[in-house]
Formats: sequence, structure tokens, C-alpha cells
Amino acid sequence: MRALPVVFISPAGDLASPIPEIPEPTRIETFVPKAPMKALDMPVLCGLAGLNVNHGPANPSLRPAHPESPDTTARPSTLGGNPSPGMSVLDVGCGTGAITADIARIVGPNGYVLGFDRDESLLHLARRDHMIPNLRFVQGDILTFPLEGRFDVVTAARTLQWVSSPEAAISQMRQAARSGGKILVLDYNHDNNSWEPDPPNEFTRFYKAFVEWRRVNGWNNRMADCLPALFQSQGLQDILVHMEDELARRGDPDFSAASSIWVNVLETIGPQLIAAGFLAERERMETESVYRDWVQDQLQIQTLQMRAVEATVP
Ligand SMILES: C[S@@+](CC[C@H](N)C(=O)[O-])C[C@H]1O[C@@H](n2cnc3c(N)ncnc32)[C@H](O)[C@@H]1O
Repeated sequence: MRALPVVFISPAGDLASPIPEIPEPTRIETFVPKAPMKALDMPVLCGLAGLNVNHGPANPSLRPAHPESPDTTARPSTLGGNPSPGMSVLDVGCGTGAITADIARIVGPNGYVLGFDRDESLLHLARRDHMIPNLRFVQGDILTFPLEGRFDVVTAARTLQWVSSPEAAISQMRQAARSGGKILVLDYNHDNNSWEPDPPNEFTRFYKAFVEWRRVNGWNNRMADCLPALFQSQGLQDILVHMEDELARRGDPDFSAASSIWVNVLETIGPQLIAAGFLAERERMETESVYRDWVQDQLQIQTLQMRAVEATVP
């Protein structure tokens, strides 16, 4: 009988029903943060000199997949190739669970995957759409959820870009992994996204507002570049950075889906920018209309700068 790779103590009792073929835990462990995390100075941290980071070749396992995902910030990729059969994996910020389900299929019946997200409405869709025996979904906030684990791999795809204390999230991810296990984070540098040719002024104005709104909320617009230093600050080893830019080129089969991301953002996140005073509804509507036409007639290449960073827990 395999030991349960992690025990979550959830007020909502998410693990009340037993996981098929995995016995109930014999030991209950709770992660209690030892001390409040000191806020790290992000620009300084990102610029740490002498950081021993290997820039590995592009990892073919982190391939684009699931263009149907409703996630608004990006076309999803998958972290699914890194785990192997029999492994236990925790996927932080799993959203609607498309990547998580891929991972569950890869680890197979001898493995175990837990999708974790704070948004219950997304988890509802994940549970409905991905009924796989070795896959469970649990609701919680990665910054506060009491956890200690022995997962082989802990992943987070496009999640830390929305977390204002990414160092605390990485610390938690480390707590959830076994010694010798892997931490694997996929994220963006929104400051470096680019379009060829230059987008219309309306979109440039909107994109500046988007990036500024993120900054004011404490979300890092160079999250991907900061990951190696954050990993190092949490004592992770063998840090490896994979270039994983998401390119949408006119003529690609998925050009239409990939290039519609920002229309999606305008529709779903636009109202939040308006509520926060970064944009007017009239500007949002105008931008959406102008941008749609420009994508249809002129956009050649959209590059979303993404990195996948992996490391080992000592
Ligand atoms: C852009 S989606 C990524 C979904 C999926 N991983 C993918 O790449 O397609 C980011 C997800 O992170 C979740 N998230 C953000 N902050 C979180 C937190 N503090 N704790 C848990 N989940 C969080 C959001 O609810 C959302 O589902």
C-alpha cells in the first residue's frame, strides 16, 4: 500500500471521501509558518549577481495544449511531460484542471495528482470535466493553506504572476515537496510581451493600463525573470531555466485562438481595470473593436515571454 503523499487539513473537509486505491493517512502533519516572511525587494532580488542558474534547452515537455481553456491570461501550456508514471504531483493554481488532468494521465494509476486552487468556481468545472481516479481537486489559498507534503513534483503554471508574495508561495511549494523532489514553475514577463507590427494606439494604452494595474496590485510583471532568484532564496538547488515563449504567427493553425487572448482579457479583466479607475468603459469597448480588426488584418507575430523554471528540493 502506498503512503498518501500529502495530508491537507481543510476546514471544508475536501478530503472527506477516500481517494480510490490510496489508504487513509496514518499520520497527520500541519504546516505552521515559522515566522512571517520578510518582504523581498523584488528588483534587487531579480538582479542578484553571481546567481548560479543553468539556462537549459527549451524543454519539449512543456508544450502548448488545450487551446479551449477558458483561462483568461494565456493559452495554456502543459507541465505534463516532466512527471513520470507513478509520481505524486501537486498542481498549484490548477484553474479548470486541463493541465492537471494531463499530468494525472501521465503519472497513471500508480501515481497521484492533486489540483489546488483558491477559486471554487473553477474547481467545480475541473471536477466536472476531469473525473480521473487518481486526480483530486482541493480549494485553498497557497499563501495560507496549512500543508506539509511529500510530493515528488510541485508545479504552478501561470499562477505566481497573480500572487503578491511569490516568495511565500514558493516556500509553501517547497514544504509540499519531498527532499529530492522537483519544483516546477511556468510564468510570464508581461513587461516583455511584444507584437509585430506595433499594435494600434488604443491597445498600447490598454496594455499600459493593464501592466500598471498589475503593478499597483503587487503582481510582478517580470515574474518569470525573478523565479531563479526566488528559488535560490528558498534554498532550492540545481535551478534550470527553459525558454518557453508563446509565439502566435499568422498562418499557424492556432493563430486565431492564441491571438484572441487579449480580447478575452479585455472582456474578463477589463471590468476590473475600469472599477479600479485604470480604464473607462468607452476605451475598453473601443480598444476591443480596434484590436479585433487589427489582429484579423495586420498582426503577424505575438510573443508572450514565458519561462519554465525547475529546481530540486535539497
Ligand atoms: C491563469 S490561471 C492558470 C491556470 C492553469 N494553471 C493554466 O496554466 O492554464 C491562474 C490560477 O491561479 C489561481 N490562483 C491565483 N492565486 C492563487 C492563490 N493564492 N492560491 C491558489 N490559487 C491561486 C487562480 O484562481 C487561477 O485559477
